[in-house]
Amino acid sequence: MRKNIAAGNWKMFKDAASANELFEKLIATEIPENVITVIAPPFIYLKEFVQKASSKDRFLIAAQNCHHATEGAYTGEVSAMMLKSINIPYVIIGHSERREQHAESNEMLKMKVLEALNYGLNPIFCCGEPLEIRKREEHISFVTKQITESLGTLNHDQISQIVIAYEPIWAIGTGETASPEQAQEMHEAIRNHISSLFTEEIANNMSILYGGSVKASNANEIFSKPDVDGGLVGGAALDADSFIKIINSFR
Ligand code: PGA
Repeated sequence: MRKNIAAGNWKMFKDAASANELFEKLIATEIPENVITVIAPPFIYLKEFVQKASSKDRFLIAAQNCHHATEGAYTGEVSAMMLKSINIPYVIIGHSERREQHAESNEMLKMKVLEALNYGLNPIFCCGEPLEIRKREEHISFVTKQITESLGTLNHDQISQIVIAYEPIWAIGTGETASPEQAQEMHEAIRNHISSLFTEEIANNMSILYGGSVKASNANEIFSKPDVDGGLVGGAALDADSFIKIINSFR
């Protein structure tokens, strides 16, 4: 079933004391019945947070990345197998910062998605175009190609475990948000593309999140678009008050 999701990506922010302080405020919040909250802290906090979150409904923990291999000589990396072994339910895969800074290709992300699925994790698969592609009006073909190359060969059970996050690169951390109409245009195109690759039912049941400068002040307008099922939030997820407002921005 399609779910409303408010996901917070903390990236590489917050020391232990301030991460705990934010987490305690969030976990004390009442989550609306129709919303799932997902928090993606840095790896070092995952185990503690997932234990604390285990008794709270609709409040789930995500990793920000995983490796494509199960184990091996990969210094500094963390595998899906390890995440599963501490009961992490979600993993962000293919964030544009990882694509850019760690040269993660569509082919590499396909391997990561498969590895995560093999261990029963739900990937939050990120896609999105850079500014020059948007200016050339090639954004839809660019994003649908990312999806085809990384997700196109999944079987129906596998694709049903995926959440897609559309994050136009020009809107991430820039304060510039896609307009609700721009988000809806792309989300509808993504849903149609999933329908053509798989089935209409799978497409209709898929949660598609928007990311890129989502704030308490614009979340409601963006989330009210018919094909936008929530947000993947960076900066505004680092402040308890603003993220709690975002959690409460669904109709
Ligand atoms: P932002 O980041 O909300 O700070 O723009 C979004 C993201 O990178 O997921």
